Amino acid sequence: MEIVNFRQMKDGTKEEYHFLEKLEDEFQKELPGRIMRELAELEEGLTGYRVNRLEHSLISATMAEADGADIDWIVAALVHDIGDGLAPKNHDTIASAIVAPYVREECTWVLKTHGIFQMVYYAQHFDDDPYARDKYKDHPLYQKAIDFCEFWDQSAFDPDYEYKPLEYWRPMVEEVFSRKAWDPAVLQSGVEMPLKAAA
Ligand SMILES: [Fe+2]
Ligand SMILES: [Fe+2]
Repeated sequence: MEIVNFRQMKDGTKEEYHFLEKLEDEFQKELPGRIMRELAELEEGLTGYRVNRLEHSLISATMAEADGADIDWIVAALVHDIGDGLAPKNHDTIASAIVAPYVREECTWVLKTHGIFQMVYYAQHFDDDPYARDKYKDHPLYQKAIDFCEFWDQSAFDPDYEYKPLEYWRPMVEEVFSRKAWDPAVLQSGVEMPLKAAA
């Protein structure tokens, strides 16, 4: 079979769906490459900053690595703005959805909320609430999200920071996005790893 016969999903046979599933598995294996391409696209992102969105992401990942963070945090830092081009008003949701099956749950939560936590740095200039994040103040990861933004997001706009190039991160991207999706051993519900390794 090279292509299915059905024109409506309800007419598909068991054989056809199993055939499609195999192709989907193949497609899935190319996910790390697609993530890398999407990161490269960030070069064309928002202007006006002293670094483009790709450079910002590379600085963020480089800082995470320099702080001794583990691979889940480093990759989370690398991809935290990945949805910016398509969802400028809620890219945090996109980035978190992309990583969710492949990293610790804490990383997904921090990516998902980083937009609102970042507001503390600028919302006052728009008569908006810089502390909108406080709706999460009873969440166990509240401080983690504050720290993520403070250490690796708001701080990652310096063009003089010596960051590692995109290709440097490919092995980590391949490792993380080749994990078994939604595996409890990957999600590690309730487990927290530090952003900064103890000195
Ligand atoms: Fe962001
Ligand atoms: Fe960012």
